[in-house]
Amino acid sequence: MNTVKTLRELRAAVAQARAEGKQVGFVPTMGNLHAGHVSLVEIASQRADFVVASIFVNPLQFGAGEDLDNYPRTLVADQEKLFAAGCHLLFHPDVTEMYPHGMDSQTRVTVQGVSEGLCGASRPGHFEGVATVVTKLFHMVQPDLAVFGEKDYQQLAVIRTLVRDLNMPIQIIGAPTQRAEDGLALSSRNGYLSAEQRATAPVLYRGLQGIADELKRGARDYTRLIENAQAQQREAGFVPDYLEIRNAISLRPAAIDDRHLVVLTAAQLGKTRLIDNLVVELPGQ
Ligand code: PAF
Repeated sequence: MNTVKTLRELRAAVAQARAEGKQVGFVPTMGNLHAGHVSLVEIASQRADFVVASIFVNPLQFGAGEDLDNYPRTLVADQEKLFAAGCHLLFHPDVTEMYPHGMDSQTRVTVQGVSEGLCGASRPGHFEGVATVVTKLFHMVQPDLAVFGEKDYQQLAVIRTLVRDLNMPIQIIGAPTQRAEDGLALSSRNGYLSAEQRATAPVLYRGLQGIADELKRGARDYTRLIENAQAQQREAGFVPDYLEIRNAISLRPAAIDDRHLVVLTAAQLGKTRLIDNLVVELPGQ
């Protein structure tokens, strides 16, 4: 596996793979890779002949006071994991390679609708930063397909919408959330948790499972379900951000007769903001 830092080298390596008739798969990341990222690369390598991953901690998607400066940078360990998972090329640009004209004057990509509410409400500008860097990376790599984790459910919806609305010829593949044995969704931010917080953290997923079970048993009082789960989060020591039941496709607030639902939550545990979601398929009426 080669690691390149410039767009020039990236383009040359992808052009060579293309000249050999290879399909190109792409997995964008911010590094500090865990088994969740590894599964994205494995999916890409099952579906494409030449797999490109990127590691770029994108300043444009971090708000003031967020963890940009502390975000873990673990390049050597990441390279080993990528290689073992079947990655052929790592693109690891500097900020000046990604934003050579500075970030203030950078053209931005705003995805309407699905960017609003949920994490879009708590983290103003976040999805604009994600959509902008993913658009740039897509133009740089020009992949046939790209793989993103379902753990960032709203991000995946933003990227699907972006690709559709801007007519990008890229297949977007959503990969199932990887979880620890106790149910906690794998995330680079789990590394910020103390041992005590780590023991508490699975409460988030258990709350989602509780709501899913009740929905499957026929409960439709969404407000009650949400309030109960948020009360459990508070009791465990979380500061709840949001917990919502939405239509799994449109991400609009769920109607009472929707069958294809997703329950999404974000909550703060100490200094760490955790997110999770669970899709709930109800049988047709
Ligand atoms: O999910 C992430 O790690 C990032 O938001 C992404 C998609 C790599 C864009 O910076």
